[in-house]
Amino acid sequence: MRIDVVTLFPEMFGVVRDLGVTGRAHAQGRWSLHAWNPRDFTHDVHRTVDDRPYGGGPGMVMMAGPLEAAVNAAQEARAALGLGRAPVALLAPVGRRYDQAGAESLAASEGLILICGRYEGVDQRFIARCVTQEISLGDFVLSGGEIAALAVIDAAVRLLPGVLNDGESALQDSFNDALSGLLDSPHYTRPEVYEGESVPAPLLSGHHANISRWRRERSLELTVTRRPELIEAAREKGVLTLADERYLAELAGTPLPEPAKRRRPSRPKPPKAS
Ligand SMILES: C[S@@+](CC[C@H](N)C(=O)[O-])C[C@H]1O[C@@H](n2cnc3c(N)ncnc32)[C@H](O)[C@@H]1O
Repeated sequence: MRIDVVTLFPEMFGVVRDLGVTGRAHAQGRWSLHAWNPRDFTHDVHRTVDDRPYGGGPGMVMMAGPLEAAVNAAQEARAALGLGRAPVALLAPVGRRYDQAGAESLAASEGLILICGRYEGVDQRFIARCVTQEISLGDFVLSGGEIAALAVIDAAVRLLPGVLNDGESALQDSFNDALSGLLDSPHYTRPEVYEGESVPAPLLSGHHANISRWRRERSLELTVTRRPELIEAAREKGVLTLADERYLAELAGTPLPEPAKRRRPSRPKPPKAS
């Protein structure tokens, strides 16, 4: 996967390129990152990338020209490597909310070009001409798209094959299919008793089935309380077991009836001797 980022602050991307799990994967060549500064595509001495908004109002707006030239340079660099034309995603509060499904589909792709806005935003004509999708990190306003782009990249890179080792596996993370799309259960580590509070007994039992059940029930509990729509989605996908439904019904105070015990078919009575 190759990520191209168009940004006025390329140095911010050292965070994913050089550090932690994503940095290790970058060093291993599992993904690559290329930053393009729109200032390098300007033609005036001040390397101007923004100007005042038409119609007045506060702040500045990023100009279309340098952004489009940076995108074209990124597309050409990708084409030179034999990659197809990449989608161009603008980070924007008005975009579609990024989620785990978005991260999965990015991880399964050849990558994309991310555009980081600054100031009041970017000239709409650039969006109309070059941008194929707009991605939001959530309902809040950041000073620039860089922090949002870092989150987009990090969430996708950790899903690439071989990036996480077994101990770090993404499989047991919240929203993952292996967890039926539910929220993760709580975690504990040493010491066994901290400030008088003990680790829950099932986790100390060494009994794998009991540990799995305990974790599953905590996941169900947390999800139904905080994100009930994820329970509905799991139900629709048919990934909740009967034991899950029983536990959910118990939590709701309306336990499901025990399954009817299967009766042995009664043996036919021997004919009476006449
Ligand atoms: C100060 S913001 C501009 C906000 C814009 N005037 C608005 O109200 O929608 C500057 C840049 O930060 C980025 N940004 C801000 N909030 C974001 C969010 N929630 N998700 C993704 N990008 C965001 C965008 O690239 C945006 O162009």
